[in-house]
Amino acid sequence: MGYQGRFRVWRGDADGGGLEDFTVEVNEGEVVLDIIHRLQATQAADLAVRWNCKAGKCGSCSAEVNGRPRLLCMTRMSVFAEDEVVTVTPMRTFPVIRDLVTDVSYNYEKAREIPAFQPPKGVAPGDYRMSQVDVERSQEFRKCIECFLCQNTCHVIRDHEENKEAFSGPRFLMRVAELEMHPLDEADRVQAAQSSHGLGLCNITKCCTEVCPEHIKITDNALIPMKERVADRRYDPIVWLGNKLFRR
Ligand code: SF4
Ligand code: F3S
Ligand code: FES
Repeated sequence: MGYQGRFRVWRGDADGGGLEDFTVEVNEGEVVLDIIHRLQATQAADLAVRWNCKAGKCGSCSAEVNGRPRLLCMTRMSVFAEDEVVTVTPMRTFPVIRDLVTDVSYNYEKAREIPAFQPPKGVAPGDYRMSQVDVERSQEFRKCIECFLCQNTCHVIRDHEENKEAFSGPRFLMRVAELEMHPLDEADRVQAAQSSHGLGLCNITKCCTEVCPEHIKITDNALIPMKERVADRRYDPIVWLGNKLFRR
């Protein structure tokens, strides 16, 4: 049975805006994105929202529902009480373009700062060999749909715009970890994680892991192991001596 749901949606642009109230029909089995689409079709034709797959796989429809970072297409209306006001706002960490659409270029800039996979010299593509355990480790990280909800949630940048330059965020520190754990990658990711990508700013709050729609254990499987590798490099006297003697 359908019902009339109450919604509060943020409308505005880079110059400012505010929450607007709407009453919209809700039907069984619907998700928040269905409601936003009905709102566009019936009351607010110019409401801006980014979406693509409606299947939790493209990572486009990221926003905040009742203050929680969520994919709009994967948030079922059945999780809310019928008399509850459902508030939909754009991701807070990124600049608003219009309504629910934010400018996520920060993420692409951070992606570009990570040097590509550096295979060993003299081994042709197709001749790379690695063990199954190493394949499986990176497989988890490869599930990322680049929704940037983890980036949006991490307090290091959510509340501190000034950290954006130094901090790549959980998604891209995870990418650095993926490359570091790749047995054939020859670049020095440990040093770069700390000095170029801001790993030291992460204080393991795990909020990134909590919001990941792919349930990737970002903190436990990528960030903490990277921190351990940084600590090993720094405090292991043999490693330290090796670095002194053999590194430029
Ligand atoms: Fe989204 Fe998870 Fe990828 Fe972060 S790690 S961008 S939350 S899928
Ligand atoms: Fe941020 Fe995740 Fe670390 S939320 S502080 S990157 S554990
Ligand atoms: Fe693709 Fe929601 S529309 S993840």
